[in-house]
Parts: sequence; C-alpha cells; structure tokens
Amino acid sequence: MRMKLSIFFFLLISLSSSSTDFQTLLSFKASSDHYNSLSSWSNSTHFCSWLGVTCNSNITRVTQLVLQNLNLTGSVQVLTQLKQLRLLSLKHNNFSSSSNLDFSSLQNLKLLYLSHNQFSGNFPSGVIQLLRLRRIDLSHNQFFGEIPLTPLTHLRHLLTLRLESNYFNGSLQTDTLKALEGFNVSDNNLSGEIPRPLSLFFPSSSFEGNENLCGEVLGKKCVKPTAKNDHPLPVEIPIGHGKKKLSGRAILVILLIDVTIVALLGLGIFLCCRMMKKRKESRGVEKKNVESKKRVVYDNEEIVFFEGCKRFKVDELLKSSAEMLGKGNVGTTYKVVMDNGDVVVVKRAKERRKKKEIGGLLKEIGGLRHHNIVSLRAFYGSRDELLLVYDYLPNGSLHSLLHGNSFSPLQPVFKKFTSILLYNVH
Ligand SMILES: *[C@@H]1O[C@H](CO)[C@@H](O)[C@H](O)[C@H]1NC(C)=O
Ligand SMILES: *[C@@H]1O[C@H](CO)[C@@H](O)[C@H](O)[C@H]1NC(C)=O
Ligand SMILES: *[C@@H]1O[C@H](CO)[C@@H](O)[C@H](O)[C@H]1NC(C)=O
Ligand SMILES: *[C@@H]1O[C@H](CO)[C@@H](O)[C@H](O)[C@H]1NC(C)=O
Ligand SMILES: *[C@@H]1O[C@H](CO)[C@@H](O)[C@H](O)[C@H]1NC(C)=O
Ligand SMILES: *[C@@H]1O[C@H](CO)[C@@H](O)[C@H](O)[C@H]1NC(C)=O
Ligand SMILES: *[C@@H]1O[C@H](CO)[C@@H](O)[C@H](O)[C@H]1NC(C)=O
Repeated sequence: MRMKLSIFFFLLISLSSSSTDFQTLLSFKASSDHYNSLSSWSNSTHFCSWLGVTCNSNITRVTQLVLQNLNLTGSVQVLTQLKQLRLLSLKHNNFSSSSNLDFSSLQNLKLLYLSHNQFSGNFPSGVIQLLRLRRIDLSHNQFFGEIPLTPLTHLRHLLTLRLESNYFNGSLQTDTLKALEGFNVSDNNLSGEIPRPLSLFFPSSSFEGNENLCGEVLGKKCVKPTAKNDHPLPVEIPIGHGKKKLSGRAILVILLIDVTIVALLGLGIFLCCRMMKKRKESRGVEKKNVESKKRVVYDNEEIVFFEGCKRFKVDELLKSSAEMLGKGNVGTTYKVVMDNGDVVVVKRAKERRKKKEIGGLLKEIGGLRHHNIVSLRAFYGSRDELLLVYDYLPNGSLHSLLHGNSFSPLQPVFKKFTSILLYNVH
C-alpha cells in the first residue's frame, strides 16, 4: 500500500513537472512566435519531439532548447522556468528584454548562447551563480553597463566569454580570466588599460572597437589621467627609462613564450611524423588486433588515443559542428568538423556499456579493419557515453562498412555536436 502510494506520488510529481515544461513552452510560443516558425509545437505531439527541444532520457523535462534563426521576438524570461536546461541557444532571432534578464533559476545551465538579438539591459543577473557554465555568448546585442568580470572568474568551468558588439562600459580590471580559451569584448564602450594577463593571452581583435581602451596589445599607450586620482587605472611607470625597462621585460617574456611554443611545436611535429610513418608501414597488416596498439588506460574524463598525432580534448570535440551520417545497429555515426578544420567520424555507441564490455566492443570494431578504413583513432568513455573517433573518408566507404546493409541515410542536419551529446555529459 505504502509502495503504491509512493509510486502514485512519484508519477504525480513527474507528471506535474513535465506539464510545467509543456505549459512553459506553449506560453513561450504564444508570446514569441509571430511568424509561426514553431508549427510543430502543438499539443497533438509530445513536447519532447518539438523542433529544437531535447528532453532527458525519461522525457519528463526539457534539457536543451535550440531555437536559432526563427524570427522569434519578445521576452525570453518565461524560459527560465525550464529548470533542467543544460543548453539554451537563441542565436539570430529578434528577442528583446524590457528589463534586466535573470537566469538565476537555470542552475544546471552549461551553454548560454544569446547572440544576434536585440537584448538590452545590464549583464544578465544570476549568470555569475551558474557554477556549471562553460560558454557564454551575449554578442551582438544591446547590453550595457559593466561586465562583472571578477565574479565571472569564480565560474571554474568557464571556457568562453563572448560579449562583442554591445554597449558594455567600465574597465577590464581582473587578472584571473586568462584561464579562458576564448574572450572577446570588441566593439563595446570599455575604457582603461587592458590588464597584462589578458593582453598576453588574447589577440588585439578581442579588444578592438573600444575607443577608450588602451594597452600594448592595441598599440595604444595608456595616458595616465592627470587630475583624477580615484580612476581605476593602474599606476603607470613614468614615461622614459622606466617604460623602456618595462617593454624590455615584456619582450623577454614574449620571447621565452615563443621559444617554448616553437620547441613544443617542433617536438609535436617530430613525434607526429614518426607516428604517421609507423602507421603507413603498418597499414598493410590489416587484421592487426586493436588492443596491441592501444594504451589500455581507461580514463573517465579524457579521450584515450590509440595512434596518430592530432590530439584534442572532449570539449573541443563537443563544441564542433556535427552532421549525422546514419544510424546503424551498433550506434549512430556523425561527421564532426572541429574548430581547427579537422574532420573526424564519431561513432556513438547505442547503449550504455559497462567498462568490461568496452574491450569487447573495441575488438569487434577492430575486426572491421579494411584498407578503406583508417584506424580507430581514439575513444572516449565515461559512465554514460562511449564515443569512437575515426578519420573521415569522404568517399562514404567508412559508413557503409560500419553499418553494413542496415545503413539508413538520414537527412543531413548540421548541429553543434554538443547539442547531440550534451544531455549525457554530466
Ligand atoms: C527522470 O530522470 C531524471 C534524471 O534525468 C530524474 O531526476 C527523474 O526522477 C526521472 N523521473 C522519472 C519519472 O523517472
Ligand atoms: C491544445 O491545448 C489547448 C489548451 O492548452 C487547447 O485549447 C487546444 O484545443 C488543444 N489543441 C488540440 C489540438 O488538442
Ligand atoms: C523572418 O521575417 C521576415 C520578415 O520580417 C521574413 O522575410 C523571413 O522569411 C522570416 N524568416 C523566417 C525564418 O521565418
Ligand atoms: C524585430 O523586432 C522589432 C521590435 O522589437 C521590430 O520593429 C522588427 O520589425 C522586428 N524584426 C523582424 C525581422 O521581425
Ligand atoms: C556605464 O554606463 C552607465 C550608463 O549606461 C553609467 O551610469 C556608468 O557610470 C558608466 N560607467 C562607467 C565606468 O563609465
Ligand atoms: C560610451 O562611453 C562614453 C563615456 O565613456 C559616453 O559618453 C558614450 O555616450 C558611451 N557610448 C555609448 C554608445 O554608450
Ligand atoms: C572578436 O569579435 C570581432 C567582431 O565579431 C571579430 O572580428 C574578431 O575576430 C573576434 N576576435 C576573437 C579573438 O574572437
């Protein structure tokens, strides 16, 4: 009896939570979709199958909402009731905001893309509390006021911060944002000196278009304000011999970094070519067991590489754009174009597998070797996800081999690879 009752309540709770997301989406459509771009959003189908909507595995909550280029207008505030969202992308619409946006309820949000809209107001509040955030893109809007740079440095997972083409003002006083891989505040109304760490890590195009911003990276000397002592500009070393000393040291630092990079590059190319050579030699021997080549290290976070030279992180893979090539018996295959232009084929295993089973699966795939198939390059395995990475062969022989006769071509849809995988990444 108690069990029945608790199941009843469980169902009640799950039903009510999903109907909330359902209602939220419907009221969003009613207020924002004046061109009826969201015609699939009708109550004759489950909301998890609607355009741009991705749900969790038990189809109760919306985890991803990707609505790009759809002429949507009005406010997005109602969407903050979709509390399980991991990815929110509303790029290239006509959204606006009458007051400051507040995203504090989206505690699980990892990716926030709002670029190319008419949003205005201050930097959205609550964003600095979203501890899982990885990428923020507010570019090409009309946001104004100061950028909360110091609070943003507390977001430990943050990788990119794109704020270009807005009306942000104030200075860039912070020194810890250098951990970012992408940073752009060009075409704003910022002022003051660019802190040295920022100018060492990001190119001038990250800062251009701010009339009152100055610093070495922009080739624009900072003039010490004469009267105001309370100005947040750092104290400048007096022009003259102090300046020379300083730039001398800067040159030394840059030189050191350059030398290190060149040395690392050289080492990389050397190792790379050696591996390529080995690979070419071994290509004749086709039936070689995969396991003899690979490093049998099972790592929960990083991709494990078998051979080849190009290395990348899971994150790099996820942020690339992906196109589904087809679905087969073993899983789904995607063509993924990485930011650096590399193209790989990623096969995503259909079911979650236990660690023990993975070895078997790899053997199975190793058995598929053929002169048209380039070796398995890497795999990524976590508790929920198994991704197998191959070189891309444009002639199509790879996927026909991988899928056998069961290959069913699908309409190619270019998507961010993350939007395909994200709900499984924890
Ligand atoms: C659905 O899955 C989520 C996790 O993704 C879980 O928190 C929730 O309890 C599940 N609900 C049902 C009804 O299974
Ligand atoms: C969809 O739901 C709305 C109320 O939310 C109702 O007015 C409408 O008749 C429903 N349409 C269909 C096709 O069921
Ligand atoms: C967006 O609206 C414009 C008119 O304002 C129209 O020409 C265009 O086709 C619409 N685009 C979409 C994707 O609906
Ligand atoms: C975008 O919204 C503004 C008002 O916010 C409106 O004047 C303009 O026509 C809209 N553009 C499109 C393409 O719908
Ligand atoms: C930034 O702009 C706002 C008005 O939009 C103004 O009140 C504020 O003083 C400016 N801050 C700086 C540092 O210029
Ligand atoms: C940019 O800031 C200056 C003051 O620093 C102010 O006079 C100007 O109006 C601002 N421009 C915009 C577009 O906000
Ligand atoms: C920053 O944004 C501007 C404007 O969109 C672009 O031209 C520039 O290449 C970007 N720079 C970086 C480093 O992303």
